[in-house]
Amino acid sequence: MKVLGIETSCDETGVAVYDTDAGLRAHALYSQIALHAEYGGVVPELASRDHVRKLLPLIRQTLAEAGLATGDLDGVAYTAGPGLVGALLVGAGVARALAWALEVPAIGVHHMEGHLLAPLLENDPQGRPEPPFVALLVSGGHTQLVHVEAIGRYRLLGETLDDAAGEAFDKTAKLMGLPYPGGPQLAALAERSDKLPGHPGAFRFSRPMTDRPGLDFSFSGLKTQVLLAWRNSDQSDETRADIARGFEDAVVETLAIKCGRALDAAGCGTLVVAGGVGANKRLRVRLEEMARERGGRVSFPRPEFCTDNGAMIAFAGALRLQAGQHDDASVRVAPRWDM
Ligand code: KG4
Ligand code: ZN
Repeated sequence: MKVLGIETSCDETGVAVYDTDAGLRAHALYSQIALHAEYGGVVPELASRDHVRKLLPLIRQTLAEAGLATGDLDGVAYTAGPGLVGALLVGAGVARALAWALEVPAIGVHHMEGHLLAPLLENDPQGRPEPPFVALLVSGGHTQLVHVEAIGRYRLLGETLDDAAGEAFDKTAKLMGLPYPGGPQLAALAERSDKLPGHPGAFRFSRPMTDRPGLDFSFSGLKTQVLLAWRNSDQSDETRADIARGFEDAVVETLAIKCGRALDAAGCGTLVVAGGVGANKRLRVRLEEMARERGGRVSFPRPEFCTDNGAMIAFAGALRLQAGQHDDASVRVAPRWDM
């Protein structure tokens, strides 16, 4: 079964073809980051318009790379939520219309299920995690710990009560004057602090909600701690890097502590990390250490599948279509949607 996947939930237009026999055939991504940068965040209306401009050319490019014609497709999957409603509607409308014209089924996919299953896109069976596992979803919109008992059977173990981890990275970066999206830049700054002798550890922030049992997170207080530290500092480049290091350490350590607890609670040895923050190098190193200490393992999707992409939607959609599920002809999206 060859399934076209379309992702348009936020500021990335992603398209891919997943073949249930041959695996991922092709994928393409267009990022709108430059478009939104001057506004300091994603402007929903501009995002929708840009998806409209880019989606069909990207579908054509992906099919050409896969060596396929539209007539070869057996189904179309699209992100139906959660996300920006206008942006979602662009992908859903194009997907539904294409499926209608090709007389193949269409399926709306939950964006976070896509992230959750992204590590399973790995071709090498040795490197591919098999459920049951615990997934840490850390993106700009979500921070969740999910027990994946089987594909399609998910149990929420814990989630953030306020800011998502990526959102905390982005907001913290912004308050120290870094351009949008600040997460990766803050991480790069933190690395710079490591190269200055005596600097790492100059700022220590709390590890929120780790002093009591439970698997929920709260990151908004951390942002306030950084704001106070930044305001009361000399605001030099070096201090900015040191604060970035302190902030990153706090987030990484908090995530590592909760992931360890989640593995214990679920009785699992395997942790799977998904979502944009999964690209963070220090988080990767720390979680690997944590898993090793427990005799378990941690699995990350390839960096390009950590952030939003069409491949994860094509894959999650293919599994659902294969199981006989599909949508009716009305186009529905859900800006807010529990998995
Ligand atoms: O999954 P994603 O691409 O989009 C959604 O939010 O759905 O995640 C984007 C988030 C942003 O908040 C971005 O700042 C963060 O992931 N991010 C990082 C890093 N790379 C991306 N945060 C920390 N360190 C990074 N290296
Ligand atoms: Zn995402």
